[in-house]
Amino acid sequence: MKQESIFPENFLWGGAIAACQAEGAYGQYGRGMAVSDISFYDSQIDRQDLAKHRNVTTQKIEEAMADSGTTRYPKRHGIDFYHRYKEDIALCAEMGFKVFRFSMAWSRIFPTGEELTPNQEGLDFYDAVLTEIEKYGMEPLVTISHFEMPLALVNQYKGWTDRKVIDLFVRFADCLFTNFGQRVTYWISFNEMNAGRFSTFKSTGVVADKTDNYIQDCYQAVHHQFIAAALVTKRLHEINPAGKMGCMIARFTTYAATCKPEDVLQMMHDDQYDNFFYTDVMIRGTYPGYMNRFFKDNGVSIIWEEGDKALLKEYTADYLAFSYYVSNVSSAQPNELDVTDANLKKSLKNPYLESSAWGWQIDPKGLRYTLNNLYDRYQVPLFIVENGIGAEDTVEADGSVHDPYRIDYLQRHLEQMKEALVDGVDLIGYTTWSSIDIVSSGTSEMSKRYGFIYVDQDDDGNGTLNRIRKDSFYWYQQVIKSNGADL
Ligand code: BG6
Repeated sequence: MKQESIFPENFLWGGAIAACQAEGAYGQYGRGMAVSDISFYDSQIDRQDLAKHRNVTTQKIEEAMADSGTTRYPKRHGIDFYHRYKEDIALCAEMGFKVFRFSMAWSRIFPTGEELTPNQEGLDFYDAVLTEIEKYGMEPLVTISHFEMPLALVNQYKGWTDRKVIDLFVRFADCLFTNFGQRVTYWISFNEMNAGRFSTFKSTGVVADKTDNYIQDCYQAVHHQFIAAALVTKRLHEINPAGKMGCMIARFTTYAATCKPEDVLQMMHDDQYDNFFYTDVMIRGTYPGYMNRFFKDNGVSIIWEEGDKALLKEYTADYLAFSYYVSNVSSAQPNELDVTDANLKKSLKNPYLESSAWGWQIDPKGLRYTLNNLYDRYQVPLFIVENGIGAEDTVEADGSVHDPYRIDYLQRHLEQMKEALVDGVDLIGYTTWSSIDIVSSGTSEMSKRYGFIYVDQDDDGNGTLNRIRKDSFYWYQQVIKSNGADL
């Protein structure tokens, strides 16, 4: 008997990628150097010791710019989506995607961020990508900034610490809206805004050794991004009143390590500082009181300009997008607990959860909790724009790829999404991370695979780049076909 689906009829099923992890075509067709081009791959570094990858220094930037040829920078090559987008989008269409999330690279349109006119070749590329998406009747979901700001802005302005970058970003977004605003309904201003505190360089371009007040610069940069997000929301609505601008965070749902009041308070603080600060500003439109106290306690003093408060209040996000991979643990005595890796920052270990090979703790029920928790707080439509498991896949002798672990991970999260829908949460879509294998953001590995489509390339960049449908490809195809009834 055919099962009834709890998912709304127009639910947006799909998958996601990001320009800097997929496109490649580094230095070609007018693209400038981006912060992502500094990320190197080093097989000597332990998988679970990502912090070393995240520490970008002035020296690392200079080495990457000089490019001695001895270091591998995988994000410069991606999976050659730039030349293979037709095949990749066709495969996503074959799975039945209703939506395809991707980002438009700032460094491809304004190579140094400061040009007065855009690079036409860059615009032509995204025009062609959109045409392909439209050909299959899919909805595009475009992230304006996904960890690849032009590197020149880091060197020239210390990244987003300088208010001037707001104008440059607005020029970029405005150019996208002018060219594509009528063809794209769903936008995201910044990928994972809260990365500004945990993966600062790739999100805001702030380099620790270039500042004598790191924490101040981090939060000033985030403030400028808030203003930029408000301004581009305003601009989108002027150009296309039907356009929807989403704000996005990496949702670090966290549990108190015990019911000790100190642990519960720590959980509250972690949630406020790591998550809610960002969504409170972008959805409620004001800086929350707890953050003013945090700034006071930590000697941070945000420089506001006249009009900032009104902008934040007036141009809030239309929907809340978030990534969900793991849950975390909060403790007043963190040193007493084991630590494990997680998305963007490390986490304390939760003894009740299993972990991926990279130490990311798998928590499907945490997704139901997260959906309820965010919806209760904000009452705006929610969009899960990243969810998935990084795993090593093996190509069998007959060319097939069996990935039951990926199916299991996604299936268990989808079950909890169903529960949340029954709970009354307004969830409008789900784009898994990632549609297709791409270079890992955190480790620059190729072997940390998330896709339904296998890409024949190893960590050193060897391989044919051929695409292979994994078992999960057929599974997801059925999920979408049944609108989530058959998991
Ligand atoms: C998110 C990013 O933080 O996590 C993606 O938005 C990233 O760009 C994803 O790829 C998974 O992280 P990683 O480090 O395993 O690639």
